Amino acid sequence: MTSSLIERDLAVLWHPCSQMRDYRDFPPLPVVSAQGCRIHLADGRVILDAISSWWCKALGHAHPRLIAALEQQARAFEHVILANTTNEPIVRLCERLLAMANPPEPPEPPEPPEAKTGGATQQPVGCCVPCPSSAQNSIQRHFGKVFFADNGSTAVEIALKMALQAQAQRGQNRRTRFACLENGYHGETVGTLSVGDLGLYSDPYRALMFPALTIHNLPYRTGPDDPRWLDASAEWPAIQAQLDPLADELAAIIYEPVLQAAGGMRFYSPDLLARFRAWADAHGVYLIADEIASGFGRCGRMLAGQLGYGVQGTGYRSNNHNPPTAGFPTPYPVPRTHPDFLCLSKGLTAGVTPLSAVLTTNAVYDLFDADYSARKAFLHSNTYTGHALAIAVAHAVLDVFNEEDVLGHVATCGPFLHAGLRRLGDTRPYLHNFRACGMVAAVDLRQPDGSPLDPAWRTGYRVYQEAVRRGALLRPLGDTMYLFPPLNTQESDLQAMLDVLAGSLDAIFRP
Ligand SMILES: Cc1ncc(COP(=O)(O)O)c(C=O)c1O
Repeated sequence: MTSSLIERDLAVLWHPCSQMRDYRDFPPLPVVSAQGCRIHLADGRVILDAISSWWCKALGHAHPRLIAALEQQARAFEHVILANTTNEPIVRLCERLLAMANPPEPPEPPEPPEAKTGGATQQPVGCCVPCPSSAQNSIQRHFGKVFFADNGSTAVEIALKMALQAQAQRGQNRRTRFACLENGYHGETVGTLSVGDLGLYSDPYRALMFPALTIHNLPYRTGPDDPRWLDASAEWPAIQAQLDPLADELAAIIYEPVLQAAGGMRFYSPDLLARFRAWADAHGVYLIADEIASGFGRCGRMLAGQLGYGVQGTGYRSNNHNPPTAGFPTPYPVPRTHPDFLCLSKGLTAGVTPLSAVLTTNAVYDLFDADYSARKAFLHSNTYTGHALAIAVAHAVLDVFNEEDVLGHVATCGPFLHAGLRRLGDTRPYLHNFRACGMVAAVDLRQPDGSPLDPAWRTGYRVYQEAVRRGALLRPLGDTMYLFPPLNTQESDLQAMLDVLAGSLDAIFRP
């Protein structure tokens, strides 16, 4: 039965992000069911999903509360066009997402800004246009509106389009360019490839892409244990020197806050976000934060952009499991890191249904609010925008985060995962550059002297194949191996994933 399914598959199905020829030797895995971090195959094998099925299964497969929410909503209505209609669950979800994303309320008026050269609290200099994220937007209620779509790439495209149109509608027609980060990734549509930096995925389509400024020299760090985790001062002058020449032309800077997933599971200092905010405010440039992979608890907070905050929570249990963040005085002043546009997907529905959202400020929204004849409306539409089944699941996801203390689990089990991966390096000199934060841990396969392996050997791919044989889905990024399990994975399963990785490495690197 399995072999005939594979034959039929190879005859008709073109799989995503794959060289199809690879499947001739190593066929796709025939899935029949999945539960928690376990994927059950037609031939009886059980595979541990160590990468949360492309980073979306934040709560594992078939979480009963999410499935129940889906079923219950399906009995009421599954989808009605969102233009010209509304419903209570979608309005309430907007309210909940805004409450999650808005910065916590300060307990007392913030201290005067620190005198920190080029730093988070730097005063805007030479600001000739009103700041997009202006002070009149109170810090307590920064985000004010939510726009829905149905996948991550589209959310990013929406944010790019909104930023461009908003700049034009505030009289800044010259601001048509975007800055993005080295090793950045924002999706697979032409617009998102244009602001990404991964030639592997974008090179064939260069003729369709628009030019963007790619910022180099990022403050890469190994994670919160890195002594310079909250300090990007060494790298900032070189970054600012790249931005300054385009200060009058940029519509927005787009970035994945703290965690660059597809670009190799790299972490950079959260301090960079505060520096971007100060620079953008000074020059009238918007910030677009793509939290599609980093958000919904993956890095230990509901949003990775909140990592530099003090110990105050965001309404979600167990934010206070995070140790007070060194570097920024806690609990206040809070460094201003919040973007003008925040893109969410993946964890938003924990991978049960497609959904994405773009949160923005009322200041941005007001630029679109005019008589119809002024042609200022945001006329973007996707058929499935705000799909009711997905909205119901997103509510259940937020309930589970709250009631099952998901962030508390990440705070406890994340360090177990980090330490476990790090320990593998004690006896394996080809493992380099350990890095970890929240429920992500990554390591590079290299020569013992640290130089890269020959890509033609496809070492990461061979480790992946071995891991599947041994019972775990550990899809690498080139020669980077990483664990990105569901956030609620138990320690015993994390250990099983680490054991499979260790055994697979030993099998491939056997002298
Ligand atoms: C940071 C980031 N942005 C955008 C996307 C694109 O999302 P989607 O695959 O849903 O289009 C991804 C997907 O992995 C991502 O990691």
